[in-house]
Amino acid sequence: MLNDRSSLLSLLETRRSAKPRELVGPGPTAAELERMLTIAARTPDHGKLHPWRFIIVPDDQRDALAALLLDALGQENPEATDAHRQKEDDFAHYAGQLVVLVSGAVPDHKIPLWEQELSCGAAGMNLLLAAHALGYVAGWVTGWRAYSEPVQSAFCEPGERIGGFIFIGHAVRDLEDRPRPPLLDVVRQWTPLSE
Ligand SMILES: Cc1cc2nc3c(=O)[nH]c(=O)nc-3n(C[C@H](O)[C@H](O)[C@H](O)COP(=O)(O)O)c2cc1C
Repeated sequence: MLNDRSSLLSLLETRRSAKPRELVGPGPTAAELERMLTIAARTPDHGKLHPWRFIIVPDDQRDALAALLLDALGQENPEATDAHRQKEDDFAHYAGQLVVLVSGAVPDHKIPLWEQELSCGAAGMNLLLAAHALGYVAGWVTGWRAYSEPVQSAFCEPGERIGGFIFIGHAVRDLEDRPRPPLLDVVRQWTPLSE
């Protein structure tokens, strides 16, 4: 069973994202979303810089998001077809709650940029965990939109970057797990590599 919330450990052992396009509503209530974001903000962060932000996209801004994505698509790909445009409109209107994760690393700081970006990733992971712990299913995607200048400008201050679009809703069907790396591939006993 995936996303088994019968215990903390079982949830950690079975947590599974969904594809955002396959989510259904409703998204979290305002109180649940605040709780998720409070948990997400409780993230390791060297230097207390909290170099990440969460941008809530209200339902009544989804049409504006669609207009933004269509405009960005036109700039990125003048050859875009109706199918491409439909995909962006669909994306902007995916069910559930959309939270945009923004990396706001402090430049030229004694805390290396790498560590600040690691903290941003951890904040995104914590948001997934919080959403799943509250009985929702989340999906984290980037795609071309995260790297598009017009889209970045609409979400980010100068120097910030989009870490992902995180949709929070419910799975429309039973989820299937995906392959997980065998521990042998990702864990080893340390000996110096130069030996
Ligand atoms: C930073 C980041 C960006 C991602 N972008 C995409 C994406 O654009 N499209 C996609 O299909 N999956 C993307 N994924 C992967 C999805 O989140 C995928 O559903 C995830 O690997 C499922 O793993 P889980 O079940 O362990 O959460 C991204 C993951 C991360 C961490």
